Order: sequence, then structure tokens, then C-alpha cells
Amino acid sequence: MGEPSIKVWDPLVRLFHWSLAVSFAVAWLTAEDWRDLHEWAGYAAAALIAFRIVWGLVGPSYARFGSFLRSPVTVARYLGDMARGRERRYIGHNPVGGVMIIALIVGLAATALTGWMYTLDAFWGVEWVEETHEVLANVMLALVLIHIAGVAFASLRHRENLVRAMLVGRKRAPGRADIA
Ligand code: HEM
Ligand code: HEM
Repeated sequence: MGEPSIKVWDPLVRLFHWSLAVSFAVAWLTAEDWRDLHEWAGYAAAALIAFRIVWGLVGPSYARFGSFLRSPVTVARYLGDMARGRERRYIGHNPVGGVMIIALIVGLAATALTGWMYTLDAFWGVEWVEETHEVLANVMLALVLIHIAGVAFASLRHRENLVRAMLVGRKRAPGRADIA
């Protein structure tokens, strides 16, 4: 008998997450010299993001933007609590994680958009399009690494394997101090 757990991440959020991670990795690894695959991986990421935006509006409660987008005050307070080692455990995304998710979604959408623009005749030879695409791709890589570090940090702080939770969908049932 393990600890009591509850269902948090629905199957589509989990499928979205790991498909997005793979698309991003493939887009990165093929950017230099495998142009077709690079473009397909980028389009796959764009399609996944379009799905996630809809799911954030109509999906189950933990998937909804409304459940994890908090006010700037709440986010700042959470950062302060993290610095003091006393941030509370959230069953859904915590307030700082919520900010990261929006940054990842908006940033990847902009990366895919500028990549697509680069392939259009209308922007042929327009340098800022290519430059913006590359800068955005680099910023996204940095954000992804911070994202993974944040996941590791929260997993250690709350003694809970969040990677496993994103795979199987379940998390430890909320205790009295946790925010459901
Ligand atoms: C090995 C690499 C990765 C691991 C281990 C990982 C792990 C996780 C975990 C555990 C969560 C849930 C966080 C929570 O409990 O609040 C999460 C959420 C998320 N991650 Fe990752 N991640 C990885 C790579 C990526 C990449 C490459 C991207 C984007 C390019 C990404 C984008 C996201 C997004 C958008 C969410 C929010 C999920 C949702 O509600 O739809 N992750 N990730
Ligand atoms: C998640 C999405 C994407 C990421 C992370 C990404 C990443 C990158 C990176 C890092 C480069 C620079 C390669 C270099 O140093 O030469 C690049 C170049 C490029 N990307 Fe993307 N990309 C994405 C989506 C797309 C999409 C959707 C398209 C087009 C449909 C696209 C088209 C291109 C093209 C044409 C180049 C080559 C620019 C050149 O020749 O210098 N990318 N991308």
C-alpha cells in the first residue's frame, strides 16, 4: 500500500508535454543541417501549443490557465517564500511554475512563427527574421533548462517526483498545509 494519491494531470496534458519536449529537442538537433525535419518538428511544436491554448480554456480544472495563473503579488510572494525555504506545496502548477509555462508557450509560438516567416518569399533576405528566430531559439533553450531546474528544485523541496507525476498523472494527496 502506497501513500494516498490523486489524479492531477489528464492524459492529454501529459501527451502534450512529452510530445512538446520531443519536438523541441528534434527542432534543436536538426536546426543546422536537416532542414525538412527541422521545419516539421517546429510545426509540430506550433500545433501542440495551439492545442494547449484551447485546452487551457476548456480542459479539466488543473489544465486550465485560470487554475495556475496567479497575480504578480502572489508570484512575488512565492519567490520570497522560496528564498526562505518555506514555499507551500501546490497540487497543480505553483505560481512561479505558472509564469514559466506562459513564457514557454508564448516563446515557442514566437519561435515557430519567425521560423515559418523565414521560409516565406515575402521575407526573403530580411535579416531580422532569421536573427530573431535564432535569438528566440536560444532564449527558449535557456528557459527550458531553467524549467527543468525548477522541476528538480520543487521535487526535492516537496519530496515528490514531479517527472513521474507528469508521466502517470498522479500526485500525493494534499496535506493540510498544501494548496489544492
Ligand atoms: C527532460 C525534460 C523535461 C522534464 C523532466 C520536464 C518536466 C516537467 C514537469 C514535471 C512539469 C510539471 C511541473 C509541475 O508539477 O508544476 C512540466 C510542465 C511543463 N513543461 Fe516540462 N519538462 C521537460 C522539458 C520540457 C520542454 C523541452 C518544454 C518545452 C519546450 C516543456 C514545457 C512544459 C510546459 C509547457 C509545462 C506545463 C504543462 C501543462 O500544464 O501543459 N518541458 N515539465
Ligand atoms: C520550436 C520551434 C523551433 C526551434 C526551437 C528552432 C530553432 C532553430 C535554431 C536554433 C536555428 C539556428 C540554426 C543555425 O544556427 O543555423 C534555426 C534555424 C532555422 N529555422 Fe528554426 N526553430 C523552430 C521552428 C522553426 C519552424 C516552424 C520553421 C519553419 C517552418 C523553422 C525554420 C528555420 C530555418 C529556415 C532556419 C535556418 C536559418 C538559416 O539558414 O540560417 N524553424 N531554428
